Amino acid sequence: MSKIKVVDSLIKDLLKKIDDDTIDWVDEKQNLQSIMENGGLVDRMWPVKLIEDYCEENSAAKILDYGCGSGILNLLLLLKGYSNVHGVDVVEKFDSKILEHMQFDNASFKLIGEDERLPFDDATFDVITSSLVLEHVENVDFYYSEASRLLKPGGVCFFNFPHRLKPYDSHSRCWFIHYFPKSIRKLLWDIFARQDGDYLNNYLFLKTVSYHKRIAMKYFSHAENRTGNRIKEINFVNYKGSSKIRLIASKLMGLKYVGNIFIKIFSLNASVDLYLEKSSY
Ligand SMILES: C[S@@+](CC[C@H](N)C(=O)[O-])C[C@H]1O[C@@H](n2cnc3c(N)ncnc32)[C@H](O)[C@@H]1O
Repeated sequence: MSKIKVVDSLIKDLLKKIDDDTIDWVDEKQNLQSIMENGGLVDRMWPVKLIEDYCEENSAAKILDYGCGSGILNLLLLLKGYSNVHGVDVVEKFDSKILEHMQFDNASFKLIGEDERLPFDDATFDVITSSLVLEHVENVDFYYSEASRLLKPGGVCFFNFPHRLKPYDSHSRCWFIHYFPKSIRKLLWDIFARQDGDYLNNYLFLKTVSYHKRIAMKYFSHAENRTGNRIKEINFVNYKGSSKIRLIASKLMGLKYVGNIFIKIFSLNASVDLYLEKSSY
């Protein structure tokens, strides 16, 4: 059975368990349902695969999702058998009753303050993930320093976030907007986006990949852009949305000799996959 089908069936099981119970987890249920309906699961398949490849059979590996939102990745990992999965976020969207209900005793969700030290000891985690968070973080330096503090020596981070040179900004639904300086961006947003420019200017802090790598290298021994690996390996045919375009993209990237050029072109318009390592000594 394909990995996507395995996780699909895990989510269906979870939905059934929620249905069978009297506890009202409406938000969580809606979230899971929309993931099933919109093919959004593909987005979570990649961090799950990275963690599985890294942790192999070590189901006791300690994992933190830094900016976990409603905790979908945490739940998928717990359902897949990882027992030590933790989530933090500056907003309480993760209903942690679900952890108690499913008897995930070593898992947790903690509400944190922005730029506040996280409530974990140094060198606690084997893996830290972050998905679509860093574009909302103003103090990127603090975020990387906390991630590094919490990681065990030899541990890794899998961070994914849109970067400043990505032509299309999915938050404001505008093209090339981040190529402009902040003041002009606000004007353009006021004209073209659904939300006002002030709001977006205080909500989006996209930076270039090289900026992120430079800051990350203050705290990690290795930082690598692995976006190509993701867009090459994800099975685009499984998307339920614009599958024709994705199918063509998938074929172009698979071409002999010129496939790598297409991977580079498609990577530019994709969010970055930044892989970080903390040295083991
Ligand atoms: C687009 S959501 C992504 C949530 C989740 N990672 C996912 O993939 O479903 C971005 C999340 O980042 C959180 N966030 C923003 N700034 C943060 C910070 N400084 N520290 C931790 N989380 C943060 C937001 O509250 C929000 O839940």
